[in-house]
Amino acid sequence: MMEYKTAEAPIGVFDSGLGGLTALRQLQRELPAEDYIYFGDTARVPYGCRDKETLAGYAAGDIALLRSFGVKAILVACGTISSVLLEEIKGQYDIPLVGVVESAAQAAARATENGKIGIWGTAASIRSGSYARRLKELGYGESVAIACPRLVPLIEAGKTSPEDPEARAAVQEYLEPVLAGGADTLILGCTHYPLLESVIRAEAGAALKLIDSGRESGATLKQALARQALLRRGERGKTRYLVSGRTADFERLGGRFMNCDLSGKVEQADAKCYG
Ligand code: DGL
Repeated sequence: MMEYKTAEAPIGVFDSGLGGLTALRQLQRELPAEDYIYFGDTARVPYGCRDKETLAGYAAGDIALLRSFGVKAILVACGTISSVLLEEIKGQYDIPLVGVVESAAQAAARATENGKIGIWGTAASIRSGSYARRLKELGYGESVAIACPRLVPLIEAGKTSPEDPEARAAVQEYLEPVLAGGADTLILGCTHYPLLESVIRAEAGAALKLIDSGRESGATLKQALARQALLRRGERGKTRYLVSGRTADFERLGGRFMNCDLSGKVEQADAKCYG
């Protein structure tokens, strides 16, 4: 493996699919000089309906794949892996692994005015109780946690517009208990969900504060790298995109979300080979 404990090494980011792009976008803004390797495990998306054992195998493969590129740190841009496994596995690696739960809980605690916080997540994330537990430790025991299994398949199919009736109906269904519970803040606890922001805004109005779990974690990763003097300086860095599924789908949808042309720029990789 190449030398990875150096500022020149890239940062790895992974998710089951498109969702982690919401975190990558923020990282690129916050740390523009870094190089990034993004991996979307699109052949095995969604992760949120899997059991812990299966997820452990997926996470091990995803991390090993990124490590084969000599990454100096990994952003686990997946609420599901962050919720179900991160605390257990991060001690097994000699590079920082940063997840999305802690910084999202902190941001929600800062944002709420009435102390009532809604949490949306995948079935596995909500089952793990990760966000609710952390909020309780921060003094916010009144959270409403809702599993939203319909959202990731809609997003991976590109149905993210307020004009899409399926997207509107699903968002309406999951917002209802959050608003009925009086929450003034909603944690989008799966990194895919910010891609539905315009639909959520159309349904919930401007008053509900939305916490983007991927976006918040960029600052945490920056601190982790700064502590080890591993921040890269200089010219704008490069990003490589890898997926386990069809590259063409990711080029089309990922390019739309990243606001850039990814045609011919997405590579094929198979995390199964590394698990
Ligand atoms: N984007 C991931 C998350 O934050 C995974 C969603 C899924 O694949 O179900 O939970």
